[in-house]
Amino acid sequence: MKEQAKEQAKEQIKILAIETSCDETSAAVVSNGRYILSNIVASQAELHVRYGGVVPEIASRKHVELFLPVIEKALDDAGQKPEDISAIGVAHGPGLAGALLVGLMAAKTIAYVLGKPLIGVHHIEGHIAANYLKFPDLEPPFVCLVASGGHSHIVHVRDFTEFQVIGRTRDDAAGEAFDKVARVLGLPYPGGPNLEKAAVSGNRAAFKLPVTYFNDGSFDFSFSGIKTSVVNLVNSIRQKGAEVPVSDIAASFQEAVTGMLATNAIKAANKSNCGKIVLAGGVAANKALREKITNMSKNEQLTPYFPDISLCTDNAAMIGSAAYFHLLKGDVSSLDLNAEPSLKLG
Ligand code: KG4
Ligand code: ZN
Repeated sequence: MKEQAKEQAKEQIKILAIETSCDETSAAVVSNGRYILSNIVASQAELHVRYGGVVPEIASRKHVELFLPVIEKALDDAGQKPEDISAIGVAHGPGLAGALLVGLMAAKTIAYVLGKPLIGVHHIEGHIAANYLKFPDLEPPFVCLVASGGHSHIVHVRDFTEFQVIGRTRDDAAGEAFDKVARVLGLPYPGGPNLEKAAVSGNRAAFKLPVTYFNDGSFDFSFSGIKTSVVNLVNSIRQKGAEVPVSDIAASFQEAVTGMLATNAIKAANKSNCGKIVLAGGVAANKALREKITNMSKNEQLTPYFPDISLCTDNAAMIGSAAYFHLLKGDVSSLDLNAEPSLKLG
């Protein structure tokens, strides 16, 4: 039995993954793309609170300080020595240039010293792969709604490494709109989760905010209209000297944005005929969005998949999962891999 377990362990492909694309310094060890052996996330959120958003220079410097202890802890918690690792996966874009470079240089150095393959991963592919860690049997094809601070995409995931973007935001990302509206309402950074908390005690029908759908057959989004509308609403209430009904505005805004996201995602999933709708990205942590997708899926015979809440926002385990599927295809990177702040998906 012991021998069998040992043989199985030998067959495991263990990837050390690194993620530093924004304000989380994260390292993880993931086995066979599906099982998390460790996932360390050092959030810098507290550092950026007073600026109301991420300051790129500060983020890069903090990554420099944290990346070695975080990687050491990821290996320790996984009970692995560097030589047990099969390959190094790293998010090399999109993201903040300086922040990405810290993780990339760490990954390249480790890969070079250990003589192990380096696998550059698209950050959004990582978000999608967070679902493989929750659902060991989940396989493409499926349609995925990726809503984060930098992106709002509807992606047709044709295969583990094949992606077609079939809908995108034409202006702001959903998470960006959550963050901006939270700031206008006087809620602290990070805006999305704090706006969700404020919305709990609010009336989602209190304000009728504008929603945008395009009648050109696309699954695209636009969130700048609703964002501006909330800014104007709050300003006009303040000008009258009245108290801003924070919870009601938060609930009405959340209702409208999650409605737009869910409606287009369900439409796209129906059109693709693959029967599965998957959520990913920081905004996928939002319970109102999960509820809407769950309810709409029932009417449409779609199966919904949501990652663990803790794996919706940036973390290295998701990068380790995505890297594994590239490794299986022999799709490894060379040591001149660069950071690509605007890397496109698909
Ligand atoms: O994926 P992520 O960690 O970073 C990017 O790749 O951008 O997403 C962060 C974004 C932020 O805009 C944050 O406000 C939003 O996701 N977010 C949420 C929630 N949790 C995080 N938005 C709405 N509701 C939440 N519970
Ligand atoms: Zn992200």
